[in-house]
Amino acid sequence: MKGVILAGGLGSRLRPLTKITNKHLLPIYDRPMIYYPIQTLVKAGIRDIMIVTGGTSAGDFLRLLGNGAEFGLKDIYYTYQEGEGGIADALKLCEHFAEGHRIVVILGDNIVEDDIHPYVRAFEAQDSGARILLKAVDDPERFGVPELDGDRIVRIEEKPQHPKSGYAVTGIYMYDRRVFDFCRKLVPSGRGELEITDVNNHYVKEGDLHYDVLNGWWTDAGTFDSLFRAGQLVAGAARERPDQLP
Ligand code: G1P
Repeated sequence: MKGVILAGGLGSRLRPLTKITNKHLLPIYDRPMIYYPIQTLVKAGIRDIMIVTGGTSAGDFLRLLGNGAEFGLKDIYYTYQEGEGGIADALKLCEHFAEGHRIVVILGDNIVEDDIHPYVRAFEAQDSGARILLKAVDDPERFGVPELDGDRIVRIEEKPQHPKSGYAVTGIYMYDRRVFDFCRKLVPSGRGELEITDVNNHYVKEGDLHYDVLNGWWTDAGTFDSLFRAGQLVAGAARERPDQLP
């Protein structure tokens, strides 16, 4: 299994914090945001990691992370996304890196308390398809929201005005090799981006989208409120278990 961290975009919702640096280099409690998704993947046993960066300060990722020795890695792969084409557009850049292997994709601003290893193992046990992670939230309209029929996802809607469930689709996605075929079929959404939700809906159509619900806390960090909340959650975890930060 290979890992992909999507850390591009212009971080426009966080201006002026992102005027001169990349969102994923901003601090969350005691470390830069990008550390958390790297740790999430490394804890899940993933050693081949591609970071897709973009926007301003892309070179600072290399200065900060180098070859990943701090995380026990031998090397880290980097690539660069031009413009703001969306999550699925960034993912397209990873096809040659994946080399036909299955991948775990994590959005660079997603911070999760759970060890995702059990979910990755459940995905490995699937014959094919995709696996996503859901979390019950108070404000589903900010996210991709699944519509459920029993325990089956029948559709995902991106930032719906009237959410069909109380779950957010978190930014942790596991895909088989078909993900790149689905990415090629996408057309830009209303916000001018290739949406990861549309990729997931292709798997729904194939009847091959599976999911787990996260136990622990989860947050994104792409707005002032969620960035602040992320800092509080990480600080709280650090106080409870000083030896075991997420
Ligand atoms: C993206 C996805 C959305 C998902 C969210 C998780 O939203 O489009 O489906 O729920 O990440 O963080 P964005 O942060 O690009 O608005």
